[in-house]
Amino acid sequence: MAPSLLAADFTALDREIARMDIAGADLLHLDVMDGHFVPNLTFGPLVVQAVRRLTGMTLDAHLMLTNPDRYVEQFVQAGADAVTIHIESEADIPATLDRIGDLGAARGLSLNPPTPVQEVMAHLDRVDLILVMTVMPGFGGQAFDPAGLEKIRALARARREGAGDFVISVDGGINDETGRRCRQAGADILVSGSWLFHQADPRQAMSALRGATA
Ligand code: DX5
Ligand code: ZN
Repeated sequence: MAPSLLAADFTALDREIARMDIAGADLLHLDVMDGHFVPNLTFGPLVVQAVRRLTGMTLDAHLMLTNPDRYVEQFVQAGADAVTIHIESEADIPATLDRIGDLGAARGLSLNPPTPVQEVMAHLDRVDLILVMTVMPGFGGQAFDPAGLEKIRALARARREGAGDFVISVDGGINDETGRRCRQAGADILVSGSWLFHQADPRQAMSALRGATA
């Protein structure tokens, strides 16, 4: 379970992160937006560095940037354990994934809802994580696009057939119902912003989904 910090109360990041850590979150998802690849702006390496000082949790930086290749090093230096770039970005995808790996971080590749899953298939042998977007990235609180379920199934099938050694993560509109469907389709990691941060008992919410069978 990966809480997305986007939905946290930014006046109390330390308390919000501790709440998710204590509740048993497995990693913390950090949404980085450039106002160009997506129509919104969030934060950069400086905030990732501050979050790094606040927690020992695994940090996954989801880079919604047109030119992620220019910044991967800064995010790893800031303390990101995993760096996820978009296949729709302008980066040289294989070279940027290799660079992330050389820097010592886990290599993530994400695809937007309109992008066919076939487009990431050629890269499966050089990623540690595939992030299936089930909303158009840019904003929290949007409705889940069920077309992502078929992508998750296709990725799980490719992995079974030996295409690579990666985890399947899903991001956008995840709640108890959509999260369960994603788990059943084969997702390993569920990213959740608004639903999880609004839970009175996030531990209970996360363990219910963790128990949902893949
Ligand atoms: C969307 C981000 C998501 C977002 C998810 O651009 O990539 O990580 O925070 O938020 P919810 O769970 O509210 O859809
Ligand atoms: Zn995200």
